[in-house]
Amino acid sequence: MVLLSLALAGCGGDHSILDPAGPAARGVAWLWWGMLTAFTLVFLMVVGLWLAAFRRRGHPVRSAAQERRLGLGWILGGGILLPGVSILLLLAVGVPAGQRLLPLPGVEAPRVIEVIGHQWWWEVRYPHAEGEVVTANHLAMPAGEPVDFHVTGADVIHAFWVPRLGGKIDMLPGRVNRIRLEADEPGVFGAQCAEFCGAQHAHMQLHVEAMERDDFAAWLEARRRPPPQAEGHDTAREAFGEHCARCHRVEGLAEGTGGPDLSDIGSRATLGAGVLALEEGAIARWLAEHQTLKPGNRMPAHDHLDAETLEALGAWLETLRP
Ligand code: CUA
Repeated sequence: MVLLSLALAGCGGDHSILDPAGPAARGVAWLWWGMLTAFTLVFLMVVGLWLAAFRRRGHPVRSAAQERRLGLGWILGGGILLPGVSILLLLAVGVPAGQRLLPLPGVEAPRVIEVIGHQWWWEVRYPHAEGEVVTANHLAMPAGEPVDFHVTGADVIHAFWVPRLGGKIDMLPGRVNRIRLEADEPGVFGAQCAEFCGAQHAHMQLHVEAMERDDFAAWLEARRRPPPQAEGHDTAREAFGEHCARCHRVEGLAEGTGGPDLSDIGSRATLGAGVLALEEGAIARWLAEHQTLKPGNRMPAHDHLDAETLEALGAWLETLRP
């Protein structure tokens, strides 16, 4: 009973492949149910034959020719015909389900969003003629239209997986893989790195938000401009320039590379790729305790900064939103 409830606990929530929210994921879910049904039938058949074998004990012995015919029948039927038909059925359902995940040549290329896996966070880029928008650990997409995701890895192999929207795809350094996903309706979906990529692999979650097309356009447009700067916060901006700006970018203020872009960090759902919910005070806490909350992450500990500076930095970063 405990095992059953544990197993069923995986069927709900925003990571469930059994609760598809788009055409590609529906294909995967149907394939899963089809395979489960087929395997259950095969299992019942094998158990049935096994029980029948017990009951046949003590029956009159057949002639050698009868035995041979019967044996040949089983080999042809159970060893060739049945597996052959099963494999053909799986291919007939599985190949189209897989094709739906692939951007096919000739089909008009929809919107492209680039996702880059880092140890242990996600970089999301929205290529656009009027200036690229970059975010981290938060992926916004329009609902009701297909989106091509071009994915790659910056350091080691990661895998991009939004279970409720479709199958997973490897993010390989030096190569761009493509997957086409679509969300039926606006909503929030969990995503998780699906390839072991080091100590903090589990803390590599991505917040995926599908929006109405107009809302998405406004979301993008707002991020094409530098975030408005709140009054005050001079100490924090100074400290940021001195200690953070080499690795982090803030549109219009710092052009650091290597770490997540922080231009809209105040508008995100989580910190540390899913470690903390972004509530008031969460950024300051993250700055002070990030090596305890997510040991081994690539940001150095801030032991050289006093608590007040970290508080000030956190308070200012929370104001960074379009
Ligand atoms: Cu990245 Cu696992």
